[in-house]
Amino acid sequence: MKPTKPISLLWGLRSFCASHGCLYCYFGMISAHREEMPTGPGVLSHLSPNDLTAADVLAFAKTLADSPVGRVFLAGGEPLLWKPILTLIEVLKAGGVEVVVCTSGVALNRPDLCEPLVELGVDAVSVSLDSADPVHNDKWRPPHREGDGWEAVVSGISALIKARGSGPRPKVGIYSVVTRRNLADIVAVPELAAALGCDYAVPQPIALDPDHQLAAELSLTPDLLPELTARFEELYAAELPLVLPARAYAGQVASAVRRPTDLVPGCFGGDTLHFVQPDGTVWDCPSALRIAATPLERHRTIKGAAARDLFPDPTGCGTDCSLFSVDCVNMWPLTSFPVLAPTGTETTRA
Ligand SMILES: C[S@@+](CC[C@H](N)C(=O)[O-])C[C@H]1O[C@@H](n2cnc3c(N)ncnc32)[C@H](O)[C@@H]1O
Ligand code: SF4
Repeated sequence: MKPTKPISLLWGLRSFCASHGCLYCYFGMISAHREEMPTGPGVLSHLSPNDLTAADVLAFAKTLADSPVGRVFLAGGEPLLWKPILTLIEVLKAGGVEVVVCTSGVALNRPDLCEPLVELGVDAVSVSLDSADPVHNDKWRPPHREGDGWEAVVSGISALIKARGSGPRPKVGIYSVVTRRNLADIVAVPELAAALGCDYAVPQPIALDPDHQLAAELSLTPDLLPELTARFEELYAAELPLVLPARAYAGQVASAVRRPTDLVPGCFGGDTLHFVQPDGTVWDCPSALRIAATPLERHRTIKGAAARDLFPDPTGCGTDCSLFSVDCVNMWPLTSFPVLAPTGTETTRA
């Protein structure tokens, strides 16, 4: 069936993250930004003062019902610690939009958040956990509060699965960031996810600028390709009782590591995928290279706008993009999100 609402929106809802201080986070490090705030198109910061107001966010959300956007990934910062989050989800679901919440997971231990996610019919919750080894995870994803590390994330996942009971939704999955220091977690985290009763697992390669201070320590490099490939083969061979990205994903990860920039024919960025920053700016995708190359006349915002005007019906063919980067690889499991039907069919399902 051809999706009636084929667009997915990756919505970085809030800049603030009171949850963790992940050392590689796309939003940078608070300590560094206190000394010098980064500037420029697409730059993210947990300290950004420019996030849209709740009124602006909700006004735009109401317009999504009458648009080709069928699925919204709510990310951040940490979306579950933003007070109006449940109101936003209610608006989106009432408009027939599928909702996937991307969270650090600790907030799921709160019944006042966990239970409404089930009641409101959230379609999926992707929880970030990098390792089956608590020490590794908490080294790179240190919690702001003692007690909010690996154990709390795992108990949050279990709380959500318990709150869902025998219901169909939300699907629950684990996203893990793969670096040169945790290649074994390509297999170990999905194994853990299966043991916890999760529905899906996605190992995603770390994306760091070459001049990031942790690039040498964490980035994946071509010399690691034999092990990377072997780990993915081991993962698919394990036939775990959960959904993984399509097998082609392993090759996409490898090719991003082998050739960090390349041509992508017919890319979905700006066609069936769009990215919204916490200040409301709309980009074709979150790729730093693509954002930098976006001409001024294509700088758009959701503030005061209607989704129907911002997101025309996709051609389905995309555009050829010569700005492929490891950022892009992390978009593949979003556009063909493995546990839900192709975008848009949900609204027409019985
Ligand atoms: C920015 S977070 C926002 C949602 C939520 N706070 C969380 O941690 O899941 C979204 C996802 O991006 C991942 N991520 C953050 N920085 C990354 C990087 N430099 N490379 C790859 N993935 C990254 C996180 O681990 C998480 O799975
Ligand atoms: S929890 Fe999410 S938003 Fe917060 S620092 Fe970690 S990756 Fe970034």
